[in-house]
Amino acid sequence: MITTIGVVGAGTMGGGIAQAFAQAGFAVRLVDVAEPLLDRARRGVEKSLDTFVNKGKVSAVERDAALGRLATSTTLDRLVEADYIVEAIIENVDAKRALFMSLDAIARPEIILASNTSSISITLLGAATKRPDRVLGMHFMNPVPLMTLVEMIRGQATSDESMRIGSELCRRLGKTPVEAADFPGFIANRILMPMINEAIYAVMEGVGTPEAIDTVMKLGMNHPMGPLTLADFIGLDVCLAILEVLHEGFGDPKYRACPLLRRMVAAGRLGRKSGQGFYTY
Ligand SMILES: NC(=O)c1ccc[n+]([C@@H]2O[C@H](COP(=O)([O-])OP(=O)(O)OC[C@H]3O[C@@H](n4cnc5c(N)ncnc54)[C@H](O)[C@@H]3O)[C@@H](O)[C@H]2O)c1
Repeated sequence: MITTIGVVGAGTMGGGIAQAFAQAGFAVRLVDVAEPLLDRARRGVEKSLDTFVNKGKVSAVERDAALGRLATSTTLDRLVEADYIVEAIIENVDAKRALFMSLDAIARPEIILASNTSSISITLLGAATKRPDRVLGMHFMNPVPLMTLVEMIRGQATSDESMRIGSELCRRLGKTPVEAADFPGFIANRILMPMINEAIYAVMEGVGTPEAIDTVMKLGMNHPMGPLTLADFIGLDVCLAILEVLHEGFGDPKYRACPLLRRMVAAGRLGRKSGQGFYTY
């Protein structure tokens, strides 16, 4: 019986994942490396829940109960209490493999370890543990409390039972699981990132301004949000990291990250989270 969820990494995604589970009635243990990061995540959850209350989608009692189910910690030890763990730290294979080794040592042997990675091989993360059959990808979309898709990634050794339990959890969150095989970028980013990268090339080559490019894609293709607005929302560092995985994984130059994207990341223009990207926030 899964009642307590561990979430590691309290950034853009970890905070949203923690909120989604807390709102659905699970006890949540949210872990990050420093207290201020956890405080920021909690404030983000409070703000999001307040918005739901103001819109009449959540009652004040439900908001307070959800916040009461969210506990934070700067160490992994609290995760012994977790019945299922979702990793949402930076998109870096070495950092994730090191964390999966630590989680494998701490979590009870029957516990499933899920990764929210956007592109990194689930098979590789599973191989860092002694339980590769209980390692899977659970790729939430941003912002997690609003987006209903979860891409479920089956690593080479992931068992049917683990996939079933992970998908069932998605349904308990009111979300729709869709299974994808373990290839770089899975389904979502395999298709999305080349489009975002091409939009950045179009900016660099002066084909159009960011506003023009986003407007073409919104009004012309009926996308709810232009690719550059979306890139700022995802985080330009995250976009670059995903493109690197696609480029390395397929060895195909069509995935080569645009030099303008590299330059913006080097300059600390990471999009919405840094206040500056293709737009100013
Ligand atoms: N941003 C998106 O739109 C999006 C969407 C889907 C999936 N993802 C994936 O989710 C993951 C997290 O992305 P994000 O955008 O939330 O990143 P982020 O940079 O906002 O947050 C990452 C957090 O992880 C923490 N962290 C780093 N190493 C840690 C460790 N060893 N232990 C505990 N905490 C650690 C950092 O302190 C930071 O708070 C990545 O794998 C990313 O690819 C991101």
